[in-house]
Order: sequence, then C-alpha cells, then structure tokens
Amino acid sequence: EIVMTQTRITTEPGNHAFDQLGKDTVLRAALRAGLGFPYECNSGGCGSCKFELLAGEVENLWPQAPGLTERDHRRGLLLACQCTASTDIRIKVRTTPECEPVIKPQRRCARFAAANDITHDIREFRFVTEGGADFLAGQYAMLAIPGVSTPRAYSMSNVGNSQGEWHFQIRRVAHGVATDKLFHHLHAGDEIEIDGPYGLAYLRPEVTRDIVCVAGGSGLAPMVSIARGAAQSGMLKTRQLHFFYGGRTPRDICGETFLRELPGYGDRIHFHPVVSLPGQEGDSPWSGETGFVHDAVRRSLGDGLPNFEFYFAGPPPMTQTLQEMLMVDHQVPFEQIHFDRFF
Ligand code: FES
Repeated sequence: EIVMTQTRITTEPGNHAFDQLGKDTVLRAALRAGLGFPYECNSGGCGSCKFELLAGEVENLWPQAPGLTERDHRRGLLLACQCTASTDIRIKVRTTPECEPVIKPQRRCARFAAANDITHDIREFRFVTEGGADFLAGQYAMLAIPGVSTPRAYSMSNVGNSQGEWHFQIRRVAHGVATDKLFHHLHAGDEIEIDGPYGLAYLRPEVTRDIVCVAGGSGLAPMVSIARGAAQSGMLKTRQLHFFYGGRTPRDICGETFLRELPGYGDRIHFHPVVSLPGQEGDSPWSGETGFVHDAVRRSLGDGLPNFEFYFAGPPPMTQTLQEMLMVDHQVPFEQIHFDRFF
C-alpha cells in the first residue's frame, strides 16, 4: 500500500497555504493549487522560481542546478522546481496574477500510440490519456520516462482536445538519455506519466495584433501549436500570421507541412524558412533566405515590428538575441513577447 505524505506550504507575503502530496515539487504543488508562483522552465535552468525558506525543511533534488547563481547560493535561495518539502514549510516568494495557471496542471497516465519522423532528427510522438488533453496552444508538459531519473519538459504540437491526444515533436539529443529512451526503446502501448500543462507562452486569442511565431531547433512544436490554435479559433479571419523557422542546414527545415494543412495558408499564414549554414556537403541545394532567424524577422517585417504579437521558442542564444532585437532596437513592449526560457 502506498501512503502519500502530505505537507503544508505557506507563503509570505500573502499567507497563501497549499498542500504538497508525496514527492511533488514545491512549484508543481503551488501551480496545482492555482497559485501564481513565478516560473518558466520547470527544469532548474531559468531561475524564475527562486524562493527563500523561512521555516521547515526541504529536500533539494538538484543543488547544482544552473538556475541559481553564486550570489543566490550565498543568500540561501532555492529553486521551487527542484525542491520538495520534507516537513511543513514557510517560504518567501512574490506570487503574481500573470503566473496563475489558466488550467491547473495534473498528473495523467499516458499510453504511447505512434511516432513518425519529421526531419532527420525530429520525431513526432503521440500519446493518449483517459479524459481530455487540457492545455492551451504553446504550453508544455513534464514527461516522466521510465529509466530516466528526472522528468523532461516537452511542448505539445497539437491543440487541447477532448480525445486525450498529446502530440510532441521532439529533437534527438546526441547522447541524451531521455531522447534515447523515446527514440529507441518505446513501444506502442507503453505507459508514461504526463504532468501538465505548464508554461506561460501560450496563445492570447483576445489580442487583435497580427502574429509572429519564431521557431528554432527543438522549438518547433510549441509554434506549430500556436499556429494551429490561431487557425482553429478563427483569429486568422482578421489577422496575419508569420511563421519563421530557423535551421542550421536545409535538411533541418520543416514546418511548412503543418502550416499547409491550415485554412488560410499562403493567404493569411506565411512561412519564412531560414538556414544559417547553406551549402553543407551532402545537403540539398538551398535557394531561400540565409543567416540568423532574428535578422530574417527584421528584414521581412522592418519598422512594423511593434505592431505584432510575438511567440518564440528555441535555443537560448536565439530567444535572447530575438528579445533584445525586439525590445532594444525596435521598442516592442514586453507584454507583446511570449516565450519560456529553457537551457
Ligand atoms: Fe525553476 Fe526555471 S529554474 S522554473
């Protein structure tokens, strides 16, 4: 018989109290309770979920997590996504309404249904859960993969649905334990745990601005989800959507296949592929745009940049350069930019 321990967590300021069941992390327990605990990656990398322990004890799952600086360590700060309360605790953290989950995350048992290759190193994995797949376009889930010690964050590429379908487009990582399991040791019918949804870079259907999605590398899935969500909601009847996809070489380029099936493709949905290293040996010829994806965004949209709503996902150098270009060079307000930082 499994007995779930229950610990009580209280925050200051605000005096919010919620329970942590079993080995949940402080962050996930807070979000399950609907609290606006600041976070982005849920994986120890971004540092957004820092808190101070005022009373009680925690178990730190990853003391060396890169999300904490030397200075944070000296100040005794901890990461909520890497800590589990071992007793009742009291913590100091500033919760905000913007971080309150629109859909509270839940753990679900998921069955692996099928997979298919999208590029030479990206594969789509489809899982099915009992009940609905409740998430917003652009969000991610934590996958607990048997044989992999820590859960991994992967973005859904489809949109929320009542059939319990969760689709992930995952890029193979060289020597990566999690992707090795997924790519080589997963069989139809195998079960894993999907915990979600998480993430704040979700589609804002109420915003009337035209949309720019920028994806690089493993950031394809959430941007495909945003485009699908926008098309499905009817937003694109009155709005344009520009989809930029940056790859290293021509064989990395994809995205068009998913956009092509959406109503409005070529008319209201525009695909802009960009390659940074064209003409690699053995690769197919490339006649499209070359260079970095942020330069392609600037070249295509120019001075009109502050009129768009931006969603992006990709490697940290890409998201950081893009954010700086938009905010510093073009004065795009921070509220119009949506991305979750992963490292
Ligand atoms: Fe905890 Fe990113 S480090 S959310």
